[in-house]
Amino acid sequence: MKIAIIGQGGHSKVIRDLISFNQHDQIIAYLDDKITDFYQRDNIYFGPIFYAEFLKNMFHDLKLFIAIGHNQTRKAIVNRLQFPAENYITLIHKTAIVSPSSKIGHGSILMAHSTVNADSLIGEHTIINTSSVVEHDSRVGDFVHISPNATLTGSVQVEDGVHIGAGATVIPNLTIGEWSVIGAGATVIDSIPASSIAVGVPARVKNKHMTEGV
Ligand SMILES: CC(C)(COP(=O)(O)OP(=O)(O)OC[C@H]1O[C@@H](n2cnc3c(N)ncnc32)[C@H](O)[C@@H]1OP(=O)(O)O)[C@@H](O)C(=O)NCCC(=O)NCCS
Repeated sequence: MKIAIIGQGGHSKVIRDLISFNQHDQIIAYLDDKITDFYQRDNIYFGPIFYAEFLKNMFHDLKLFIAIGHNQTRKAIVNRLQFPAENYITLIHKTAIVSPSSKIGHGSILMAHSTVNADSLIGEHTIINTSSVVEHDSRVGDFVHISPNATLTGSVQVEDGVHIGAGATVIPNLTIGEWSVIGAGATVIDSIPASSIAVGVPARVKNKHMTEGV
């Protein structure tokens, strides 16, 4: 599969390594608005994001992947490009454990040693980061980031745009409202309203952070 990577920051490096382990996939382009010219080097194209359209016309089987950790930015790029959902590839590291009864959306990634257990649903353009766990019957929305070592226990609902910090734990049957942020290391024992920042053990809402989806 030919893949164009959108974004050239730290998260993108991890994606590059993941793809390099898969013999059938090949990165043919890196697009980022910090690149001003369009050029080819060592058989890889580089250019600003709007060149995605040009490359898609050149390679009809091309898949895209947005390799940017910031949830709002991924959503903004999807809205801007207006490609059909199936144009985005879903990436699963060979060490990830994925239940056959789970479903993973377009443009999402399961990183090394992550787990998605039975009957869980993962939305589109969502990051299930290194060694994180999504337990059975959980629902994770679009543009979510579950950071390294975070754990969603059973039947947790994580709405669109949420960022769960590294090592945080959410106990069963709770809902994390859209575009909220859970601090690193938090233990969430109550549902969290939308657009909130919650930190600590047990997690308490610090303040509303006002960031809505774009
Ligand atoms: C929660 C978080 C988003 C808050 O960031 P922020 O809005 O810049 O907040 P500040 O650093 O100004 O801290 C605000 C308050 O929350 C506290 N706080 C911040 N993060 C905390 C955390 N993880 N646990 C406990 N308290 C925390 C601060 O001590 C401060 O307390 P005070 O008001 O009593 O002084 C951030 O600290 C965090 O934990 N991010 C997760 C990062 C992560 O896991 N990234 C993974 C990338 S792969």
